[in-house]
Amino acid sequence: MTPIIVISNQKGGVAKTTTADALSEGMRARGLKVLAVDTDPQGSLGRMQERYVMRGSCAASSFIEGADIQTTEDGQCTVPGDEGLITIQNQFDLKGNELDEKSLMRSIDKAIALKGFDAVIVDTQPGMNFMNISAFVAATHMVIPTTADKLGAEAISQTAEFLGQIADTFPVRWEDDPAVLITQFRGISKLANTFANQMMDALPQAGFKVFQRRIPINVAIQEAQAQNKSIYETSSILRGAAYEYNLVCNLVMEWCGLQAMKGNGEQ
Ligand SMILES: Nc1ncnc2c1ncn2[C@@H]1O[C@H](COP(=O)(O)OP(=O)(O)O)[C@@H](O)[C@H]1O
Ligand SMILES: [Mg+2]
Repeated sequence: MTPIIVISNQKGGVAKTTTADALSEGMRARGLKVLAVDTDPQGSLGRMQERYVMRGSCAASSFIEGADIQTTEDGQCTVPGDEGLITIQNQFDLKGNELDEKSLMRSIDKAIALKGFDAVIVDTQPGMNFMNISAFVAATHMVIPTTADKLGAEAISQTAEFLGQIADTFPVRWEDDPAVLITQFRGISKLANTFANQMMDALPQAGFKVFQRRIPINVAIQEAQAQNKSIYETSSILRGAAYEYNLVCNLVMEWCGLQAMKGNGEQ
């Protein structure tokens, strides 16, 4: 089955959107056809990836109701997050018809069947709400970006509980444990290293996979975002956050059984 990778964490500001962008761009650079779905009404991923939003292609609140998407010439598509998602959160579509937690899954499955995507990346908003439940119901794989600090560790244990409740309530199609990725890592901070090491020790026992790579805090990420460009285009891929994201992209692809069609992103 085509991997549907949901990037999620209850906490805001942990680099969910940055990670969703880095993974979708990394896969595109390897020749894959990627559908990126932004389920956050703030719409950050949609703005970062405007070049994949074709005229006549729907935004997320219509996508979940079954509206059509358009791809670029080379088969890419980003469904932007829009304010209509705020209404959707009350489980009604914009016409007042009831939606259910499987609506997003059905829309993604339909898009894969019609457009032949190789992978789907879903960015989520913080919190535990209808849209996030819908994303987890659609998921085959889950990536949980986190900061290496006390609040980050707490948010992961809350996420574990939330996922447990979802698995008890819905027939999920997860192929593996969720995988935690440490982001915005300050390598020079002793405290950050202590938290990161503790998390890496404790998470596997708590039912998580954990990536051995840590994404460093790096201003090049913000520079790329300010220019609406791929992080791989604007920053040195030989070191820093883009380098680590590029490696993590390889790890995620291997994990999901995806193979590069061209290059491997390394330059
Ligand atoms: N590795 C990084 N280095 C520097 N800044 C980062 C990094 N990752 C994310 N950021 C910045 O942190 C902020 C939050 O990131 P974002 O991806 O929007 O998080 P979320 O989607 O979880 O709210 C953004 O301003 C983003 O540019
Ligand atoms: Mg975000």
